[in-house]
Order: sequence, then structure tokens, then C-alpha cells
Amino acid sequence: MKKLLNKIVFITGGLSGIGFACAIEAANEGAQLVIADINSSHINLGMNQIKSLSPSSIFVHCNVGDSREVQEAINAGVKQFGAIDVALNNAGIGGEPNKTGDMTDKQWLDVININLNGVFYCMKNEITQMLKQNSGVIVNMASILGKVGFVSSPHYVAAKHGVIGLTKVAALEYAENGIRINAICPGFIQTPLLAKAGISDQKEVSDQIVSLHPMKRFGKSEEVAKAFIYLACDDSAFTTGTTIDVDGGYLAQ
Ligand code: NAI
Repeated sequence: MKKLLNKIVFITGGLSGIGFACAIEAANEGAQLVIADINSSHINLGMNQIKSLSPSSIFVHCNVGDSREVQEAINAGVKQFGAIDVALNNAGIGGEPNKTGDMTDKQWLDVININLNGVFYCMKNEITQMLKQNSGVIVNMASILGKVGFVSSPHYVAAKHGVIGLTKVAALEYAENGIRINAICPGFIQTPLLAKAGISDQKEVSDQIVSLHPMKRFGKSEEVAKAFIYLACDDSAFTTGTTIDVDGGYLAQ
């Protein structure tokens, strides 16, 4: 039996890296998808692959840092399918590295607006819809850096700690309304985000980051997607307000 058969799954940042792997895995499990992303060059390529598994899936252009665009994207999903059963708030950026004392307001706000405000805008609108349904599942893509610090990433670390906090509060608020809310904390996963941050492309940096993981490798997007499916489906029916670390042992040290 497919784990998300006929479920409507809304995914932000679903055209690349972890979000795309989650979309493919959800489609394989029988879901119909609403992919919300700003990505313009990969829309056709990504959506063709998703639609080959789940033909009714749709793409909605959405910048998660814009409250109105988020509301419109979720409304578009509801208009098309009548419900949002599962939401994966995944869109995020690495941001420009800088120490706290040197960070510009723009560097700070760019990351906070997408990685933290964006998750809040999504959750607010998803919860409004899920309350009407008396059911729903929200999964937020946090990070190991939502639990520990990392030099020169104060914006990213603060945003991801915030995402975990939001996850816990909303889980408590809506536990009696049939809405489960959890977060995933991946370690460093080989995606375009790492390449953009100059982590996976430079051997010295890459070796140093890999050495921080007891398993001595980067994670794969597909490995994060397995955790997403678990949290999205009824296998985790009694799980809310918590996090799953998919980190090769990073946080156990
Ligand atoms: P990625 O760069 O491969 O994909 C991010 C996706 O989000 C892209 O499709 C991009 O177009 C979209 N996006 C970016 N800004 C957006 C916006 N304002 N509105 C809508 N969509 C937007 O990145 P990756 O690595 O797949 O990251 C996905 C999530 O996982 C992020 O929240 C990231 O912080 C988190 N994460 C990633 C880790 C890694 O090592 N790659 C580790 C832990 C967490």
C-alpha cells in the first residue's frame, strides 16, 4: 500500500535538492503535489519528472519571503485539489557567511526572511486550511544548525533554531485539532545549496565538513526524503512537536 495515496502534498523549494527528492518520493507514494518555488530555469525539467510519476501535480510560482505570495500559493493548491493534507516547508538559502560583528543588515535579513519568516508565512496559511479540514501534517526543514552553532552563519543558525521553536509551539497549539507538526534536521547534504556556499566544490572545505560527520560522508537528499515520508504518513501518527536528525551522527558527538 502506498503511504501517501491520493494525499495532497504542498512543498516549497520543491524543484532542487532535498525538496525535489521529497517531491519524487511523495509522488512514488501516490501523492498529488503542489510545488511552490521561485526556481525558473528548472521548472520544466523538474515538473516533467514529477508529473511522470504524478500527472495531476502543479507548479505555483512563490517567493516564501512574501506573505501574500505564500497565501496565494496555498490558495491555488486548495482551489485545484480542495485540500492540503501535507505541507513541507523546505525552501531555504545558505546566505553569505560572515561573523556576527561583521554581518550587514542585508545579509542577516535575507536569510531570516526566507528561512524563518518564510516558514512562519507558510505555517500560518497551512494551519488556517488544516483547521477547516480538522486534519493535516506539517513538516519543517530545519537543520542540525537549528540545534548547535556554526561559525560565520549566525543568520542561518538563528533562523533554523527559530524554525524548531515554531515547530514546537504550533505542535502544542494544534495537537487537539488533528494537525501534527514536526521538523527534520539534516546534516550536510550534497545539494546545489552546498555548492553555492562553496562547501562541496572545494576539496579542503569539503573534507573538513565531511570529517565533522561520524559517518565521514555527506548525506543524500533521498535519505532526508525517507524521513519526510515517515513524518508525512500515518506511520508517525503519535509523533508531534519533535525533530528527526538525519545527520550521519553529527549531533551525537
Ligand atoms: P537547494 O538550493 O538545492 O534548493 C532550495 C530550493 O528552494 C530551490 O528550488 C530554490 O529555488 C528554492 N528557494 C530558494 N529561495 C526561495 C524562496 N524565497 N521562495 C521559494 N523557493 C525558494 O537547497 P537544499 O540543500 O535542498 O535545501 C533545502 C532546505 O534544506 C533548506 O531549508 C536548507 O536550509 C535545508 N538544509 C539543507 C542542508 C544541506 O546541507 N543541503 C542541511 C540542512 C538543512
